[in-house]
Order: sequence, then C-alpha cells, then structure tokens
Amino acid sequence: MLHIENLSKYYGTFRALNNVNLHINKGELFGFVGSNGAGKTTTMKICVGLLRADSGRIVIDGYEVRKNTKLLKQKVGYVPDFFGAYDNLTSIEYLNFFANAYGIYGKEADKLSEDLLALVNLSDKRNHEVDGLSRGMKQRLCLARALVHNPDLLVLDEPASGLDPKARYELKEILKSLSSMGKTIVISSHILPELAEMCSSFGIIDRGVMKMTGTLRDIQQAANFSSMPIVIVVRGDSEPAVQALRELPATKYVRPMAEGRIEVDYLGGIDDEVELLKILVNKGIPVVSYGRMEGTLENVFLQLMNGGQPQNGPAPGPVQAAPPMQAPMQAAPQPAPMQPAPMHAPMQAAPQAPAGQEVAR
Ligand SMILES: Nc1ncnc2c1ncn2[C@@H]1O[C@H](COP(=O)(O)OP(=O)(O)OP(=O)(O)O)[C@@H](O)[C@H]1O
Ligand SMILES: [Mg+2]
Repeated sequence: MLHIENLSKYYGTFRALNNVNLHINKGELFGFVGSNGAGKTTTMKICVGLLRADSGRIVIDGYEVRKNTKLLKQKVGYVPDFFGAYDNLTSIEYLNFFANAYGIYGKEADKLSEDLLALVNLSDKRNHEVDGLSRGMKQRLCLARALVHNPDLLVLDEPASGLDPKARYELKEILKSLSSMGKTIVISSHILPELAEMCSSFGIIDRGVMKMTGTLRDIQQAANFSSMPIVIVVRGDSEPAVQALRELPATKYVRPMAEGRIEVDYLGGIDDEVELLKILVNKGIPVVSYGRMEGTLENVFLQLMNGGQPQNGPAPGPVQAAPPMQAPMQAAPQPAPMQPAPMHAPMQAAPQAPAGQEVAR
C-alpha cells in the first residue's frame, strides 16, 4: 500500500532523511517511532504530498506520489502534528467545509459531519467555535476531518499528544476499528507502550536513518533481544532447578526470584532452549511456565538509541510486557461507545483546493 524507496530530504545543507526505505502492506497499522528530530514528520509530509523529497520515491496503492498528487489526495487522510487556526468556524461548519472541499454537499455533508463528530465524541461541541476547543478536542476534530473523504491510507502525526487517557484509549479503539476495516494507518507517537499495543508493524528512525522495520518480534530479534533472559517458574522449592541450571555450560547467570521464578541468562539458541526445558522436566522439576522474556518496543528503542547496548548491561533487569491500556471509563456517564467509522459515500469530485488538509495549515 505504501512503498518508500531511497527517500532523502535536505533542509538547506542539513540532511533530514538519508535513504529511507519502508514498505507497509494494506490494512497494516504501522507505528512510526523516533526521537525528536528523527525525521518522522518530514517523512509523513512527503508521503502526503506536502513536502518534496530531494531523491527517492513514494508509491501509494500503485501510484507514485510525485506524479499523482491530486489523485492521491482522495486516497490519503492526514492529521498533522500542528493544528492551524480557524476564525469563527464551529466544529460542524469546519467538517462541512472539508466535506464540501471533497465534493460532498447538502444533506449528505451534514450527515457525514454529524457522524464524524459522533465518532470522535464531539457531538456536544458541534456549535462551539473550533478555536475555543481544547487541544485534545482539536486533535479529535482533526482526525474527523482526515476521515471526511473516506481515505484508504491514514497518516497521523502524533495524534495522541495532548489527549487525556480516556481520549487516548478511544483514539486507539477508533484506529483499531478503522484498521480492521482494511484501512492502512501510519501513526507516529512517543507513547510507545500504546503503539506497541495497537500496531501490527513498526519502523524505528534515528537521525534520518531507518534503523529497523517489521513486527515487534522482528525488531526484537534484530535488536538481539534473543539475549533476553529465559524466565522459568517452578512450583515449590526452586533450589533444585537453580542448581540444575547452574551446571549447564550455556548458562551465564541464574537469578532465583520470589515465588518460584528464576531468570536465566542463557547463551544457547532455540534448539538449546528446547533441550534446557527437557533437562528440567527429566530431572522431575515441576515447571509451571517457561519462555524468553519479551522485549518491549520501548526497551528495543532505548537499546537502539543507546548504541545497541543492552540497557542494563550483561544481566538485564526484568522487562515487563507493555502495561495494559487504561480500561474504558466504565463509570463515565457521558461517552457513547465508539463506533466504527461511518462508511459514507465514496469520494465524488476531486477537491478544489490543492489539498483539503493544506487549506488548514
Ligand atoms: N522546515 C525545516 N527547516 C529546517 N529544518 C527542518 C525543518 N523541518 C524539520 N527540520 C529538521 O529536520 C529534522 C527532522 O525533523 P522532523 O520534524 O521530521 O522530526 P520528527 O521525527 O517529526 O521529530 P518530533 O518527534 O520532534 O516531531 C530535525 O532535525 C529538524 O530540525
Ligand atoms: Mg514530528
């Protein structure tokens, strides 16, 4: 769906992107990760046709962006990291304006705007001026705007920044449901546990260089997270297991912990891991659970930013799975459950403005 090939971009003499390559399949929810100034916004702006690359090319759904900018405006929705100013427009007028820009008028535009406001939980703000909305509300309105023309590809630059936990949870649910409908979504964020929880693949960019792409598993492996400890939980006394583990040549460190948990820095490969489990079981040790500790996206990212060194030296400390997302606000009386995006009429005429989004900048 989105194919980026050897993309480079200079600002003056500063090289912001250095031969970036990336391929994202249709229906993928792709998390774009990188430190401040890494090149995420630059890449995204080039993808949506708001910036020109100095070299390389981007192909969306078979069309090269540079040569098909107008056509691709119909296929791509963009939520920028910065929300412009809109004098005297209410939320509903604002969405209507963009619906009109995409050739949707009258009752159809009204219905679409109302549906989108409901989708982002802003129906009660329909008559409020956009400039008077809070930052998080503007972010949500901006997402609604990006959906006006029912795009196949959504590019969202830090849409969760400034959102409260409940709004972030709702945004995540909206994005997951859009993704399940087959939309391809590219999202940048610094909130890595949330990205890890919702995205099917990731790219980590550092100072204009794409360091890694793939599933979390892929990048864990590429970042050498096979060196994560093996975690074994045994029932009852863990001492026999600890002794048995210490006798094995591929064992580097054995750390007995509370409640039968043992962490083992183990140098063997996957076949040795299987053998290790067999050895324990054959010795009559009651193994309750067994497996490599998972490296979180955040840990992989920090390890990469740390020059590829494990964060905690040769004996990494416990790495937790990404904390669960905040539960839905059960007690909140107001919010309606988020519904899948309304699948309104397909795009009609191409928008008059060079880009609906661009008008807003
Ligand atoms: N208009 C510009 N003129 C000059 N340099 C720029 C411009 N826009 C971005 N840069 C530089 O290009 C680099 C990449 O910036 P970019 O905004 O793409 O980073 P980012 O990954 O989106 O960062 P953040 O996480 O802070 O949003 C930075 O060093 C930035 O200073
Ligand atoms: Mg940015």
